[in-house]
Amino acid sequence: MTAVTLSVVGAGHRGAEAYGDYCLRYPDRARVVAVAEPDPVRRAEFAEDHQIPAERQFATWSDLLAHDRLSDGLVVATPDLIRAGPVVTGARKGYALLVEKPFAPTEEQLDAMSAAITETGAFVGVAHVLRYTNFYRTVKRLIDEGTIGRLIHIDQTEDIGYWHFAHSYVRGNWRRADESSPMLLAKSCHDLDLLTWLIDEPAESVSSSGTLTHFTPQHAPEGAPERCTDGCPAADTCPFYAPRLYLDRLSGHHTWPVTAVTRDTSDAGRLAALQDGPYGRCVYRSDNNQVDHQVVTISFATGVLATLRIGAFTASNTRTIRILGSHGEISGRLDTGELEVRRFLPARGDTVHEWSRWDRDVQGRSGLPDDETWTISAGPTSDPDLADRPGRRESDGHAGGDDGLMHEFVEQVQQWRSGQTAALPTELRDAERSHRIAFAAERSRHAGQTVELTA
Ligand SMILES: NC(=O)c1ccc[n+]([C@@H]2O[C@H](COP(=O)([O-])OP(=O)(O)OC[C@H]3O[C@@H](n4cnc5c(N)ncnc54)[C@H](O)[C@@H]3O)[C@@H](O)[C@H]2O)c1
Repeated sequence: MTAVTLSVVGAGHRGAEAYGDYCLRYPDRARVVAVAEPDPVRRAEFAEDHQIPAERQFATWSDLLAHDRLSDGLVVATPDLIRAGPVVTGARKGYALLVEKPFAPTEEQLDAMSAAITETGAFVGVAHVLRYTNFYRTVKRLIDEGTIGRLIHIDQTEDIGYWHFAHSYVRGNWRRADESSPMLLAKSCHDLDLLTWLIDEPAESVSSSGTLTHFTPQHAPEGAPERCTDGCPAADTCPFYAPRLYLDRLSGHHTWPVTAVTRDTSDAGRLAALQDGPYGRCVYRSDNNQVDHQVVTISFATGVLATLRIGAFTASNTRTIRILGSHGEISGRLDTGELEVRRFLPARGDTVHEWSRWDRDVQGRSGLPDDETWTISAGPTSDPDLADRPGRRESDGHAGGDDGLMHEFVEQVQQWRSGQTAALPTELRDAERSHRIAFAAERSRHAGQTVELTA
């Protein structure tokens, strides 16, 4: 099978470092043959990495899509607000599409895009990368096999991490909801997709609360200047002091998040970017308006509840999940890939259970210590799907989800190219489902009321 050919619109962090990098690591599976990127430095670097001839390098998505179809697939990795144009035009031009999330920044655009794409019958995959991780696939299998009985409640957290939040949602491209998309959609449409996939029944209502509580001028340390580099008196005590992150803690690191700050990742390049650019701004004096903590509750048709907590104030940047069922519970965290299953029945066999007292195990954990309990390692390196691939090089982008998505997308494009039906597990319908919950949650947050969802 010959490699599928791809055009990339938006050769930024995702376009270059996730999808472009995949093609460089798996040239027998996918090749980039055209690019659209307005930043001349990014465009030139990307074109050189992928050996793209001058006549297939374009400044914007519309320049690229003015031509007849240049490749099998089109990867749309433009900023949040530049989505409908490349997606709808790409579908009309006959490309197989891989579209970054959020699929659409507003409900009106979602409706229009959905109608236009349905008309074309295009093959559209959405980059809900977490569904392709070993971790969430294992969770899904455990639920579907009835390991913990009837599903009652899923509690998911997205711990964005204090430095990541400051980077993207206070200083960076997603700092303003009106110039990108609301934090829940921008960051957590993945979580909403996971919840609806794991629960797999219609969501009936949603409520949400959340505010921007900390990254505001009244919390600035006394005497803090506009920029960290202007002699901030709180340099040693502020967790968000930019030079500590980008110059010290990330010294020697030359990909995201440093490449979002500057393409010149030398010490001098970083310092110059902090002195002039958005990433050196005091986090208390930026023009940000995204909420910094939010909760969402979703009620499903059979009484299952899902809760989601997202926010800035965590040391880790990861996701955790707790799934409560009628016969047991599962808990886990994505960064370590560790899952623990506890069933509400005694373990079978002659396992010796060490009790420190009748309701404590030897670690002091409460419960009946002879309940059946086991742990599963479900990190990227234990994913048999990825381990089997020849020529695999380590990439744990999104806990293996980036590579997992691309493996499936490429396979499906190969099928589509040979005239067979192709579909990704995360397609237009899934994006519609998760995005409609996000839009409803935002309405609820603003109105202070529960919002009913129509099927
Ligand atoms: N799937 C995920 O988990 C995930 C993770 C991070 C970001 N994202 C999403 O991916 C998208 C891109 O994010 P990013 O971090 O790569 O941002 P980025 O800013 O690094 O990259 C976007 C690129 O698009 C380019 N661009 C702007 N206008 C364009 C146009 N008219 N035509 C072609 N290119 C244009 C920009 O110059 C930039 O290089 C965003 O919507 C973001 O929300 C998804």
